[in-house]
Amino acid sequence: MLTLLNIQSSPRINNSLSRVLSDKFIEQWKIDNPDGCVVTRDLMKSELPYITQAWLGGAFFPPEKQTPEMLAEMHVSDELVAELKAADQVVIGVPMHNFTVPANLKTYFDQVVRFKHTYNLDGGMLDDKPTTIIIASGRLYTPGAPEEQCDYASGFLKCVLAYMGIRNIRIVLAGGMRAVNFGQETFENYVEKYLPEILLAANEHRLA
Ligand SMILES: Cc1cc2nc3c(=O)[nH]c(=O)nc-3n(C[C@H](O)[C@H](O)[C@H](O)COP(=O)(O)O)c2cc1C
Repeated sequence: MLTLLNIQSSPRINNSLSRVLSDKFIEQWKIDNPDGCVVTRDLMKSELPYITQAWLGGAFFPPEKQTPEMLAEMHVSDELVAELKAADQVVIGVPMHNFTVPANLKTYFDQVVRFKHTYNLDGGMLDDKPTTIIIASGRLYTPGAPEEQCDYASGFLKCVLAYMGIRNIRIVLAGGMRAVNFGQETFENYVEKYLPEILLAANEHRLA
């Protein structure tokens, strides 16, 4: 039985393009994997803590130097790492915030990039797994767009996942939401516009 880890980070619960497109992806994934299991990690509900000095001790000190405080600090990371390791496939919904990922998603990666758990001195320790990332943004950042070079979300996500061993990544750049925000387009039209790319991504997961 395949497990899909669904990571969501938009503070918008209604009319979030990244959430709705992720839902469309999941709908198709469930059709392709009727026995599959979807595990959702909604970062707006988890309220992950930032890493601290005690966390760094827990992550890098040898076991004999780890204090109870350090060990306690690792519980969230332990849970998130186990969840990510257990997933066969991943989908991540990302609202672009100030040219990069929202703080909750950065905190998620601070918690899961973990020495001797997800990477070691030889490289990433996770099995490669098909991963679809859906980045919703107000402006366009597709190749050739004037502001293409301001997309600091895609590069960060590709690097941080590859650091842990995940390289089978498709990024859907769902840009142009400002037309919806300014009333020039409907939200539903925008969902339709990106649907073919979402279905293509789901198809790649099916064939993986
Ligand atoms: C705090 C904040 C910062 C944003 N920064 C950017 C940005 O740097 N570039 C951009 O194109 N859109 C930006 N936007 C617009 C969002 O990316 C856009 O509304 C997108 O649809 C958000 O995803 P969601 O609909 O899944 O919440 C920003 C929106 C907010 C609320």
